[in-house]
Amino acid sequence: MTSERLPEYRHVVITGASRGIGAALALQYANPQTVLGLIGRNECDLKKIADQCKARGAQVEIGVLDISNTPELTRWLQSFDHAYPTDLLITNAGITHSIGARGEAEPIEAVTKVLDINLLGTIHSIHAILDSMRQRGHGQLALVSSLGAYKGMPITPAYCASKAAVKSYGEALRGWLAPEGIKVNIICPGFVASDMSDSFHAPKPFMITPDKAARLIAQRLIKNRANISFPFPLNLGMWFVSILPFPIASFFLGISGYNRRH
Ligand SMILES: NC(=O)c1ccc[n+]([C@@H]2O[C@H](COP(=O)([O-])OP(=O)(O)OC[C@H]3O[C@@H](n4cnc5c(N)ncnc54)[C@H](OP(=O)(O)O)[C@@H]3O)[C@@H](O)[C@H]2O)c1
Repeated sequence: MTSERLPEYRHVVITGASRGIGAALALQYANPQTVLGLIGRNECDLKKIADQCKARGAQVEIGVLDISNTPELTRWLQSFDHAYPTDLLITNAGITHSIGARGEAEPIEAVTKVLDINLLGTIHSIHAILDSMRQRGHGQLALVSSLGAYKGMPITPAYCASKAAVKSYGEALRGWLAPEGIKVNIICPGFVASDMSDSFHAPKPFMITPDKAARLIAQRLIKNRANISFPFPLNLGMWFVSILPFPIASFFLGISGYNRRH
């Protein structure tokens, strides 16, 4: 923890903090100067992370809730923000889904759920406290998207659509809110070892640990980087695929195993 970070982030909220990248971020920001607001559905997992953050000296409030329950999410975020004006909100909670093993379509219920949690959960989280941040003229919003936002991968259509929308929404907010002193950052991780990446049945090149991901994110958030994409080789590869003509991009996605599961 750098001393530079302490005055900037005293009150930090992280959605999806019970495991994976969100839990690693919670630990990254845990220190005696911070009050953390940690959101997730699994109370047991959330309490374990909260205890580890408290052991590092942080004060922790947990929000055991489903972010697709908008009234409950809004109430919790506003109540936290009232007590502890939010310096940094990281909208990290997310789920994924894939087409079937033989190329079957994703059930529409699964598509709706992915969009509901990944996209609308992000937008509702931000809206809950945006007015307060704007009144204060201070705050930072970090939206967790994915390198999958750069190019729709045939095996995960709904997930890629949700993450592309999150990226686009964040980019719009950054331009809109910068003159008011609100910072907005879009985080696009490649593969990070977690329950989510375990469920992804395709090659996972350059996979990193959640701790490393959290360190990279924290280092770049303090610098207010617009786009926090990593790791470098996969970032470059996805950017390249995004600008290639469609058939060539498809060829590269195919040989990488991202066109069909089998
Ligand atoms: N892992 C990767 O390779 C990778 C790559 C690119 C982007 N990302 C993005 O990074 C973020 C974190 O992913 P991860 O790999 O850490 O996934 P993960 O290990 O599966 O963790 C997901 C987190 O989101 C929470 N969550 C899911 N649905 C929720 C809901 N309805 N309400 C509240 N919380 C919910 C989970 O908590 P509960 O189960 O307790 O609710 C959990 O804390 C996601 O947005 C993901 O899309 C991950």
